Amino acid sequence: MTSSYGLEGRAAIVTGATRGIGRAVAGQLAGAGALVCVTARDADDVRRTAGELGGIGLAGSVADPAHLSRVTELVLREFGRIDVLVNNAATNQPYGPLMEADPDAWRQAFTVNVEAPLRLVRCAWRAWMGEHGGAVVNVCTEGAGHVGPSVGAYGTSKAALLHLTRQLAGELAPKVRVNSVSPGLVRTDMARFVWEPGEREVAAGLPLGRIGEPEDVARAVVWLASDAAQWVTGADLLVDGGTRVRAAYTSAPYAVHERLRGHR
Ligand SMILES: NC(=O)c1ccc[n+]([C@@H]2O[C@H](COP(=O)([O-])OP(=O)(O)OC[C@H]3O[C@@H](n4cnc5c(N)ncnc54)[C@H](OP(=O)(O)O)[C@@H]3O)[C@@H](O)[C@H]2O)c1
Repeated sequence: MTSSYGLEGRAAIVTGATRGIGRAVAGQLAGAGALVCVTARDADDVRRTAGELGGIGLAGSVADPAHLSRVTELVLREFGRIDVLVNNAATNQPYGPLMEADPDAWRQAFTVNVEAPLRLVRCAWRAWMGEHGGAVVNVCTEGAGHVGPSVGAYGTSKAALLHLTRQLAGELAPKVRVNSVSPGLVRTDMARFVWEPGEREVAAGLPLGRIGEPEDVARAVVWLASDAAQWVTGADLLVDGGTRVRAAYTSAPYAVHERLRGHR
């Protein structure tokens, strides 16, 4: 259960919120009393999700700067404020060795994973947060802290998002807090190719004995967005079931990397 943490009546934008982690974040924010605006590319999914949450939504890609401006305008018009921004939408492509990565796909990874969060923060800052304050949470990845097979573009872009988080935290203080959450392997469509083929084996290599659920990550995002974290900015909250400390837990090969190595 999520405490309201001072989120009652606050307005929140969650990108990529029709399924997976973003959906869980939007659901918990709404459960805490926040007014929620969801985004994603599929218009039917956006309409359905907004309806389920009693909120609003706008279909479009975060890669489109005009969409980001429209989201900001919509939220200000409908809710009269923008207190929370969760940059969650992302792409984990292109897979494979960087020497073979298509330059356009590489650029798209940075457009979606790094440029879009910055653009949306700028929109929210200019429209509301710069004057009234707010909280931004960027969804990064546990993998941004190290290298891994086949995910060079994703990891590099998420490492950039992690740096962007800290830079903005300094630049936007004290009005706006900017933090990130870095999930380990979570049961969502994006990571299905990693966990579905042998979940038990993957879970056995994790100190906390299971892969993550979207709700695990959402609780951390909501906490950082809330007044409970009012003296926290520039932080990265790792929510990974112990992935990063697994070397002290088991000497078994890391099953996630084995899956990634074989995936194109
Ligand atoms: N799952 C994991 O194991 C894991 C681990 C570490 C970090 N993460 C991070 O967690 C976040 C959420 O991932 P997830 O696993 O929950 O993904 P997911 O289940 O695939 O959901 C992605 C959501 O984002 C939307 N989306 C995708 N591309 C978009 C775009 N260009 N513009 C707007 N919306 C877009 C999707 O809807 P449409 O397709 O309709 O656009 C969907 O609502 C991402 O930042 C990801 O990097 C996930």
